[in-house]
Amino acid sequence: MDLPWGDEKTVQFITNVGLVTSNGPYGDNIMSAEWTHHVSYSPGLVAVCIGHNKATLENIKNTKEFGVSIAATDQNVLASVAGGSSGKNVDKVSALKELSFKFYKAKKINILMVEGAVLNLECKLFKEIKLGDHVMLVGEVIEASLNKSKEPLAYHEVKYWKIGENIPKPPQEELERIKIIIEKHAK
Ligand SMILES: Cc1cc2nc3c(=O)[nH]c(=O)nc-3n(C[C@H](O)[C@H](O)[C@H](O)COP(=O)(O)O)c2cc1C
Repeated sequence: MDLPWGDEKTVQFITNVGLVTSNGPYGDNIMSAEWTHHVSYSPGLVAVCIGHNKATLENIKNTKEFGVSIAATDQNVLASVAGGSSGKNVDKVSALKELSFKFYKAKKINILMVEGAVLNLECKLFKEIKLGDHVMLVGEVIEASLNKSKEPLAYHEVKYWKIGENIPKPPQEELERIKIIIEKHAK
């Protein structure tokens, strides 16, 4: 069966918004990718799933490197612009600069990175896997910088969100009861 874009089942996932930066036949470019995931600790691997017709995909296939910046809560407009048109038709990086968003040159790859994101990852293409109507590009992280003053933007039901209340762990006695039950079912 299909899980189409915008379907009420499809939109139940809660994701980050990855800002994928690239350079190649379409010049400096940026797109939003909610399908951005950390997939390995050692080495540090990050996967982004990108539609077959995106400028970003062609750029990355050419240069074998890309940036992934995890959008912060104050970058919803940036995320909408990056995801609202294609680098095939629009110079989104210049448009975003005119809108006062800032970029900096990556340290280890020839790519622009987004200033003010929560996390900036410089990636070398590690693997490319065709998955249905998207291509999963797995990047090996070769440089990472963290901005502790920012919080990640969440994406759910085609809307942007701030992480809300923490759900506390159950009280100690309940944790003990759970532990006993788990031990009872040990294999
Ligand atoms: C919040 C948000 C999340 C998105 N997530 C993805 C995604 O994970 N994969 C994808 O292929 N497109 C995704 N898109 C759509 C692309 O960002 C959009 O098609 C963009 O225009 C592609 O740009 P490009 O052609 O310059 O690469 C998303 C858009 C938004 C606004």
